[in-house]
Amino acid sequence: MALTVGPAGVAASVLVTGIAELVTNDPTIGDESSLGILHKAALVIDSDGMLAWLGSAAAAPAADVRVDVAGRAVIPGFVDSHTHLVFAGDRANEFVARMAGTPYDGGGIATTVAATAAASETTLRNLLARRIVELQSQGTTTVEIKSGYGLDIAGEERALHLAREFTPESTFLGAHVVPAGVARDDYIRLVTGAMLGACAPVARWIDVFCEPASPHAFDGDEAREVLTAGAAVGLGLRVHGNQLAYGPGVRLAVELGAASVDHCTWLDSADIDALSGGTTVATLLPGVEWSTRSVFPNARRMIDAGITVALATDYNPGTCASSSMPFMIALAVREMGMTPAQALWAATAGGSAALRRDDIGVLSPGRRADLAVIDAPSYVHLAYRPGVPLVSAFQSSPGQAGF
Ligand code: NIG
Ligand code: FE
Repeated sequence: MALTVGPAGVAASVLVTGIAELVTNDPTIGDESSLGILHKAALVIDSDGMLAWLGSAAAAPAADVRVDVAGRAVIPGFVDSHTHLVFAGDRANEFVARMAGTPYDGGGIATTVAATAAASETTLRNLLARRIVELQSQGTTTVEIKSGYGLDIAGEERALHLAREFTPESTFLGAHVVPAGVARDDYIRLVTGAMLGACAPVARWIDVFCEPASPHAFDGDEAREVLTAGAAVGLGLRVHGNQLAYGPGVRLAVELGAASVDHCTWLDSADIDALSGGTTVATLLPGVEWSTRSVFPNARRMIDAGITVALATDYNPGTCASSSMPFMIALAVREMGMTPAQALWAATAGGSAALRRDDIGVLSPGRRADLAVIDAPSYVHLAYRPGVPLVSAFQSSPGQAGF
């Protein structure tokens, strides 16, 4: 289905009708579940790409253009709150080795740093643009993008400038690993000093790979130094924590009020208690467990403890080369104990919470009309029919009011 609304460049309001199942994530409407589901629904998108109205199809107001989605489901667009999209090259060989039993320890990041350094800015921009199209075509309407394959001032700055061309959700991850040949202390001084100074103006967030079990990543004290320096210049905090082993990352993230701690594969009861008493979202990245042959985190345990859980892809050349949020939903349901409803919520409203956004992830009047149309009568088919390209359309932003 392809529709450009109005003559080129002319905005118009759009009535979307024929919605068999509309997931709003607004628990005050529809079936009053956490997904706020309406059946036989319609919605109106105004000429600025904002939701003007939603409700029963029988009560729909008029609009300039009418689109009939013919019995499909409509959901909020996916919010992929964790990606590393600015890179060149691939690490398919590393994947093959892992499938044969070689464990992941972060050492392959250096391969991508070298490939990225060798790529021109134009090449990187083109690669990034193609990846954005790839994820949008699977229903993602908001994406966070990290640096972290530069590891010097110019490389990190370049990655963030490129990320900013595509999203406001840009994250400085100079503290991804310590580059080869650089002393740890010197590198931490650089990341918290001159590199931070150059990168902060083009970043909304700062992140750190806190993983004492990896010889390449950062321990709790080092991570604290990085995050504290970022906070001091006004960046919001995110943490890669507890991916490879139990460790301090999750508790540090909660203590410092990070918006999200991501991976959360290895959590002990102190981590669960910290998360359930704090404001930090636990973002789960099941594509990583799949691609690294790891055990999966127990999402059910986290949700039962009252923790807000998000799902994201972690799209990167090392630990998850998939851009597909529907695949993450299918994995979450099959491997992490989430219901289809919990997984959909985590991939939409959960991602929005992980980015501290209140304009996306929920469909209600006044919010952005970022949505995805599922070529099925219910969102449940996302998990029920894994690997099938069911996202038939999306609405992404003002001026781009096309399906
Ligand atoms: O989120 N854990 C650290 N960073 C990425 C992997 C990066 C890579 O291996 O290239 C992750 O899994
Ligand atoms: Fe990551």
